[in-house]
Amino acid sequence: MRDYYSIKMRATLEGKHVSGVERIVTKEKIPEVVSQLPLRPNQFDFMNIKIEKLNQINFIEKSLNVKTIKVESVEMANNVALEILQTVGIQRELAEIYIKMLHTGAATDKGNMRGAMIVSLKGERLEKDKDRGVRTVNVDFENREEVTKLLKEKGYTERTVDALALSTKNLYYPDILAEYCISDQPDYTTGYVATKTTYYRILNLKDYGNPKGGRIYFVKEDTDIDRLYQYLETKAFLIKTLGDLE
Ligand code: COA
Ligand code: AMP
Repeated sequence: MRDYYSIKMRATLEGKHVSGVERIVTKEKIPEVVSQLPLRPNQFDFMNIKIEKLNQINFIEKSLNVKTIKVESVEMANNVALEILQTVGIQRELAEIYIKMLHTGAATDKGNMRGAMIVSLKGERLEKDKDRGVRTVNVDFENREEVTKLLKEKGYTERTVDALALSTKNLYYPDILAEYCISDQPDYTTGYVATKTTYYRILNLKDYGNPKGGRIYFVKEDTDIDRLYQYLETKAFLIKTLGDLE
């Protein structure tokens, strides 16, 4: 078994998080990846690059399938999102409450959370810290260049590569039933909903100019929260191939 290293970059500007990226690579690729990371944020005044050898690596054969949904208004886009969530057993009224929270600032000070919200089918919020939430780390595509090329040929972006990897790790966990995501960048209005099979990339999921964003992980009622955190924060995965593209 080869040794793998996780390289994590995070950058801030005036104390605000502006960029975060992760790659999992073999040792010889570290210098190349590390040299690319400072180019990622448009602006920053602090950057942290962390390299860790992974004790154990797991493999996921295929990413979620990818589908794009284009509707014209934010209302219609969220309606589609709610319908998808309903197909996996998440009550519409319940999902609406938390989705609205993301659009208006889900942290206690009405800012953005630093990670994802966890919501059970009963409608309980299960994060240990409601401002921090939980962050999914330690995941990448085994052959990132090829996956990026395939996605870009179909009009997708580097952002989709990162989000698809993260979401594939999330949905691989039996207790996570679905994910909803909108970016916290004011000019990026495309979001997604993911289920066990598919990553639905949804255009116009939030209002242009809105600086609020976040993620919701919808989980089963009896989810063991410590085990879920352990999986999301520590278990490392490489995804071997890309699912179907549409
Ligand atoms: N958003 C906001 N703040 C973040 C953050 C994020 N994504 N990631 C880290 N921080 C800040 C927090 O203040 C955090 O402190 P906290 O644990 O009290 O919240 C602090 O940085 C240290 O966090 P840590 O977890 O030690 O960071 P790290 O060096 O291990 O890096 C990242 C983690 C940045 C790689 C990871 O969070 C990330 O963003 N991964 C990429 C996600 C991705 O691909 N998203 C899809 C793009 S569409
Ligand atoms: P982004 O996809 O980077 O635009 O992030 C959108 C939102 O998702 C952020 O505002 C955070 O609330 C949340 N988030 C960011 N990184 C992670 C992560 N690694 N895991 C879970 N949630 C995250």
